Amino acid sequence: MKHMLVTGGAGFVGSWVALGLRARLPGARVTALDNLRRRGSELNLARLRSGGVAFMHGDIRNPEDLEAVGKADLIVECSAEPSVLAGYGESPAYVLNTNLTGTLHCLEHARRHGAAMIFLSTSRVYPIETLNALPFEEQETRYELAAAQATPGVSEAGISERFPMEGSRSLYGATKLCSELILEEYLAMYGLRGIINRCGVIAGPWQMGKTDQGVAALWAARHVIGGRLDYIGFGGAGKQVRDLLHIEDLVDLIAHEVEHLDALSGQTFNVGGGRTGSVSLAEMTALCRELTGKQIEIGSVPETRAGDIRIYVTDYGKVAAATGWRPQRDARAILEDTCRWITDHRDVLAEVIGE
Ligand SMILES: NC(=O)c1ccc[n+]([C@@H]2O[C@H](COP(=O)([O-])OP(=O)(O)OC[C@H]3O[C@@H](n4cnc5c(N)ncnc54)[C@H](O)[C@@H]3O)[C@@H](O)[C@H]2O)c1
Repeated sequence: MKHMLVTGGAGFVGSWVALGLRARLPGARVTALDNLRRRGSELNLARLRSGGVAFMHGDIRNPEDLEAVGKADLIVECSAEPSVLAGYGESPAYVLNTNLTGTLHCLEHARRHGAAMIFLSTSRVYPIETLNALPFEEQETRYELAAAQATPGVSEAGISERFPMEGSRSLYGATKLCSELILEEYLAMYGLRGIINRCGVIAGPWQMGKTDQGVAALWAARHVIGGRLDYIGFGGAGKQVRDLLHIEDLVDLIAHEVEHLDALSGQTFNVGGGRTGSVSLAEMTALCRELTGKQIEIGSVPETRAGDIRIYVTDYGKVAAATGWRPQRDARAILEDTCRWITDHRDVLAEVIGE
């Protein structure tokens, strides 16, 4: 890999991936392309610069901006409107034009230059109603999937790639799934190499958490900086569950994928923190209280919003079997790292994070 392009490279995932690849493959040139739409992405520019990553201000909705980057041997597609709420009650234009059309422009760039692609997809490709219809148990601090499940792709380990795909999944999930399908066709038709990572919740330092995206950073920020939070949906008790994946665990996986592209090309993986990395909102509150020594006001909104999911835990068995990778850092480590980062950059982050 002589030249690697990370789209969305000033974002949370993109900046870590660009810096991680640059550090692990010192002979390679890494370019981060980003339109800086996400508030706080501009704070990553100094990190990119000091880590030897070239930054290019550009928009994947414009093929000319990609062309200005020139030939790349690998594209890691991390740019997106990453909120599952995108499009609800507003125009779908941005999420469609970036997450679908923009990703197709990235694929075209890959085809024209013979580049491989690693695509950051999402667990949100799995349909909302089917996930919310899974039998569950209510425990003291969380909901848990019931042990007996009739739906394919569901086990005590969580949701695997065999989960049924019929049904609605939000425009965010749908644009990612459409992009996955076209990427698979590009691999088959044009002989490109590529890997799809369907990630659950990713978290850690440099995530500019806000009320509709980046829940762990939002929780940590409110506890460190101050403010209030709400448990929204599913009765308002904060018992909904997600698995958290530390960004550095994801970077470890992507670096492995880059080094083993030939062997792994064509694969679609569920990637996440898994059952041991899972937390409910209420459990996340308890961890944040313990880590910061602060107790903030948390309100309760019982009504569930469109798009909300009661329980999602990643079964990462397929990617673990193919690569030997497994997450090394649990939810406590993620929140500890995130709280420390916010404390260290409190003044500048107070203006940006948690909006
Ligand atoms: N963070 C998560 O929990 C999570 C989970 C699953 C999948 N993902 C996926 O990972 C990728 C990265 O997400 P993230 O958490 O880093 O989000 P992020 O918002 O921090 O980063 C996305 C970056 O893309 C940039 N961007 C947006 N529109 C663009 C455009 N048209 N052209 C160029 N740049 C553009 C933004 O400015 C931002 O810097 C996304 O594809 C997202 O869907 C994230």
